[in-house]
Amino acid sequence: MNVFWYMCAPDGPYPWKPEGSRTVDFGYYKQLAMAYDHLGYTGALFATGAHDVWPLAGALLPYAERMKFLLAFHPGLIAPTLLAKMAATMQEFSNGRILLNVVSGDAKMLGAYGMTLPHDERYLMADEYLTVWHRLMAGETVTQKGRYFETVGARLALPVGSTIAPPPLWFGGSSEAAIDVAARHVDTYLSWGETPDEMGRKIEQVRARAAHYGRELSYGIRLYVIVRETDAKAWEAAADLFGHMDEAAIAANQRFVSNTDSVGQQRMSRLHGGVKPENPRDLEIYPNLWAGIGLVRPGPGTAIVGSPDTVIRTLEAYQAVGVETFILSGMPLLEEAYRFGELVLPRLDLSRPEAAAAPKAPARTYTWSTLFDRDLSGNRIDG
Ligand SMILES: Cc1cc2nc3c(=O)[nH]c(=O)nc-3n(C[C@H](O)[C@H](O)[C@H](O)COP(=O)(O)O)c2cc1C
Repeated sequence: MNVFWYMCAPDGPYPWKPEGSRTVDFGYYKQLAMAYDHLGYTGALFATGAHDVWPLAGALLPYAERMKFLLAFHPGLIAPTLLAKMAATMQEFSNGRILLNVVSGDAKMLGAYGMTLPHDERYLMADEYLTVWHRLMAGETVTQKGRYFETVGARLALPVGSTIAPPPLWFGGSSEAAIDVAARHVDTYLSWGETPDEMGRKIEQVRARAAHYGRELSYGIRLYVIVRETDAKAWEAAADLFGHMDEAAIAANQRFVSNTDSVGQQRMSRLHGGVKPENPRDLEIYPNLWAGIGLVRPGPGTAIVGSPDTVIRTLEAYQAVGVETFILSGMPLLEEAYRFGELVLPRLDLSRPEAAAAPKAPARTYTWSTLFDRDLSGNRIDG
């Protein structure tokens, strides 16, 4: 199992409103990177957001020795050759810890960057874009005249394909056109947090399309998690978030998501319908899966809510339908990374990347009584 945590502004206890948001600057990102690395997460998802992922990830590399960096990009905004060069550089500097998340955004957002292709055509363009990517990553010299890009004599100077492994491609997109591109080009297909049943159906659909191209993918899901010592306390924490969701914030989010061309977003929005019920548990759409976050947050809108046992059981329900990777987050990112990292992560069978230079002494935890042990009594803290 892979468990990633999330790395993107905004953040805070209630990040949908100014008084619930905290400053997210480089100092804070450094704390996040060091915390995720220390806690043993497989990696972090750098989503497209206020800060650009490339300078951010480059600046954070020295603060995270083990974790992987999953970097989102929109196909078509820069030349495929430049993207491949940037990714290869990061792959070299990180000792092979880069993964790329191929995301096709939505028309409103992409228009700001001059990308005005309609929804399905964006995926035709992505198909062409990724074809150039794969050829460059195979060490080829690429001259290719397509419908969207003309690439002339492109070749990466870095030894990708021999000493530098091509960064794996991950992918988010739920439309038919998206699934076809995923099936042809990527290694891991991601979904926002649908129920295990829906996720199982989606996986079957992607699996069948990939098989058509003679390929096999792995699967991941992006969820919030609200974990506390008991189920009751976890639902109290969900109710606290719910209590802070004012009508103005819900209306603002509804306006933002209502005319999107993203099928993934439409699927998330349907889970709550944009209406705040009396009781937060009315949005429990599957045992321990709560759609309340989506009222105020575009994109991933569901949370697993419960005790560590409940959370693990729910993760297992997703594993049972073929999910290997979980991209999780809580609010605030830092505190909840610790909470999940201490309550749940140690109980999971995680593929944890090793540090480039493994620590000499075995890592251990300390309690007050550890320090009373005979062998350690020289370390007593009396102050
Ligand atoms: C796990 C995951 C992460 C995503 N991250 C981003 C992101 O960082 N930036 C973005 O613009 N879209 C992101 N998306 C949204 C996809 O771009 C989205 O599904 C897109 O709107 C494609 O539309 P479609 O579902 O209609 O194919 C993400 C989707 C998933 C499933």
